[in-house]
Amino acid sequence: MKAIVCARYGPPEDLQYQDIPEPLPRGREVLVRVHATAVNDYDWSWVRGKPAIYRLLFGLFKPRHPIPGMELAGTVMGLGSKATRFQVGDAVYGDISAHGFGSFAEQVAIHEDALVHKPADLSFVDAAATPHAALLAYQALVTLGKLQRGQRILINGAGGGVGSFAVQIAKTYDAEVTGVDSAAKAESMRAQGFDHVIDYAQVDFARTHERYDLILDCKTKRAPRDSARALAPDGQYITIGGDLPRLLQLLFARMFGERQLHILALKSNVGLEHIHALYAAGTLKAVVDGPYPLAQAAKQIRRFGEGSHVGKVVLGVVPEA
Ligand SMILES: NC(=O)c1ccc[n+]([C@@H]2O[C@H](COP(=O)([O-])OP(=O)(O)OC[C@H]3O[C@@H](n4cnc5c(N)ncnc54)[C@H](OP(=O)(O)O)[C@@H]3O)[C@@H](O)[C@H]2O)c1
Repeated sequence: MKAIVCARYGPPEDLQYQDIPEPLPRGREVLVRVHATAVNDYDWSWVRGKPAIYRLLFGLFKPRHPIPGMELAGTVMGLGSKATRFQVGDAVYGDISAHGFGSFAEQVAIHEDALVHKPADLSFVDAAATPHAALLAYQALVTLGKLQRGQRILINGAGGGVGSFAVQIAKTYDAEVTGVDSAAKAESMRAQGFDHVIDYAQVDFARTHERYDLILDCKTKRAPRDSARALAPDGQYITIGGDLPRLLQLLFARMFGERQLHILALKSNVGLEHIHALYAAGTLKAVVDGPYPLAQAAKQIRRFGEGSHVGKVVLGVVPEA
């Protein structure tokens, strides 16, 4: 089968698109034929081994697992001897990162708990775009942020995958939503439903007179306390990721009592039933950049890392039968 192989850390252009043996499902693993997969921040960090701290996770000198990729949508084609949750032919999808990686391949053997049944009305492409970004948005805004009807929300780093889901989820609460990203994404962000768009190169949102009930930061690039200046009284600031020193600053600030600052630790695939309900009601639509052929993974990982994508970058792998 074809797969994207990362033999050593380096630029995405070093990735190899090559033939490798098909995996065998063991124990509670299921073998999935991958129809679509998506590019994530992990992939950009993984293939380059940067920031270096990530090597503790991915492998000190070279990637422990040679195939990147952590989101997939596909069809079950085989079962390990102890797998019970799925049958051959089931359409499945999921964020597999809690159990392994390797979705940039035509097939993957993965623990059955990494997957859920794909609703029939959700395409494989949209499903691959969904579990990571939609749940980061949902768990940040609704589970942790306790979003209330009519609140004023600001999303920083809003032009990527998480922002595209977050604005739609916030709109189901009639929120007034401001998105911050580069000017190049403003038009697409307005089309996605943002009421206000701020170009971070021109305006510092924390130095305007606007105040927000909830700030969702998808790209924490500066001290969270600075961003929190734009909070209304009782407002909450929630980051999902960004520069490590900035995230550590937040943890210290919390230790010293700044309880309005939060970091979300994603629970993979938890709450997908809420996302299914939004899709079924027609209030959620995946914003897909692609799908591109798997062979283009290196190019698309570079586009993602350089921020020239909009929404979720999806790779089409094996066409559905
Ligand atoms: N909490 C968890 O458990 C967990 C798990 C996995 C991932 N994550 C995090 O989740 C985030 C992924 O979000 P995503 O998929 O939406 O990422 P994304 O698609 O890369 O979107 C991030 C956006 O931020 C913009 N941006 C860059 N610098 C900015 C700045 N200084 N101010 C405002 N915007 C800026 C980027 O555009 P330009 O580059 O064009 O500026 C891009 O559009 C990452 O931070 C990742 O680390 C969290």
